[in-house]
Amino acid sequence: MDALKAFGAEVIVCPTNVDPEDPRSYYSVSSRLEKEVPNSWKANQYDNLSNSAAHYEQTGPEIWDQTDGRITQLVVGVGTGGTVSGVGRYLKEKNPKIKIWGIDTYGSIFKKYKETGIFDKNEIYPYITEGIGEDFLPKNVDFDVIDHFEKVTDKDAALMTRRIAREEGIFAGNSAGSAVAGLLQLKDQFKKEDVIVVIFHDHGSRYLGKMFNDEWMREKGFFEKTGMTARDLVASGVSGELLSIESCEPVAAAVKLMSAHDFSQISITRDARLVGSLNETHLYSQLVTDPAAKDQPVESIMQPAFPFVDISTPVDLLSTMITPTTPAVLVRDFKTDKTFIITRSDIIRVLV
Ligand SMILES: Cc1ncc(COP(=O)(O)O)c(C=O)c1O
Repeated sequence: MDALKAFGAEVIVCPTNVDPEDPRSYYSVSSRLEKEVPNSWKANQYDNLSNSAAHYEQTGPEIWDQTDGRITQLVVGVGTGGTVSGVGRYLKEKNPKIKIWGIDTYGSIFKKYKETGIFDKNEIYPYITEGIGEDFLPKNVDFDVIDHFEKVTDKDAALMTRRIAREEGIFAGNSAGSAVAGLLQLKDQFKKEDVIVVIFHDHGSRYLGKMFNDEWMREKGFFEKTGMTARDLVASGVSGELLSIESCEPVAAAVKLMSAHDFSQISITRDARLVGSLNETHLYSQLVTDPAAKDQPVESIMQPAFPFVDISTPVDLLSTMITPTTPAVLVRDFKTDKTFIITRSDIIRVLV
């Protein structure tokens, strides 16, 4: 944002936890601005096929020439899909045996869509890795060119981004960390004589406040620590599986569900995607002020969604994240694909 402002831009921040069709999404806001602002142009990198064409005409030949046509595998993070589709198509035309590996995030729909043809909204949730993974199907992603998608966790990507700088002296962005972490996850697929090209999309300077900042890494729970972690809480059975209700349901239905399970908070979904939360204290103040709120949809009074943390997050960090306004955190176990909720009372139970 600071870099954009330096060029004199007005920065408009849009929420990410809304559907692309929602008028508040950055897709819709940019289309509206293109109409409203005279002389404006929307690059539309997701659906404008000039994106993949540029990679077909330039990045593909560059890689082919620089490897003297010896490349056998391409590993690349997939966001708009421009890079993987353009480069992949060029390389496969040159040598159909070249394998194209797309790197995806947990929280994105790409991998499941490629493997099953199903656009599963349950796959969508917030994640930290920038630039790759999506919650819709951009026209620039050519699924036929990509042989396999590999998902990498936010934590593995962040740690690998730091390693690339320290061990290789290459100051690259976080999606480069995802790509190398993904490559290592796939290592059994490769032979010693393979020539593997990994694309690093971004420069590390953009991430000085994030992956290259120790405080940020600690806050996110990405540093290995000794002591109890969210995984121990889940294993000890104190945390519950996630209770949620669709945003269009009436407030009264949320109250009924919370009472039936004896829960003080609930997650709110829209088309099965987490978009908000509701806790007892807030619910109480809303109903006392306006008893008719019980017939309103829960989204009219919902609070922000609970933050997601990795299952390896230490308990002492969880306890600092849980505050009166954030009474719970969601713990995602990427390996089993399950989400658990950890509340203030869960932490109290393990501390005594
Ligand atoms: C940091 C970063 N990594 C990876 C990508 C993915 O590249 P593509 O959009 O060509 O799929 C992008 C794309 O915008 C990006 O900004």
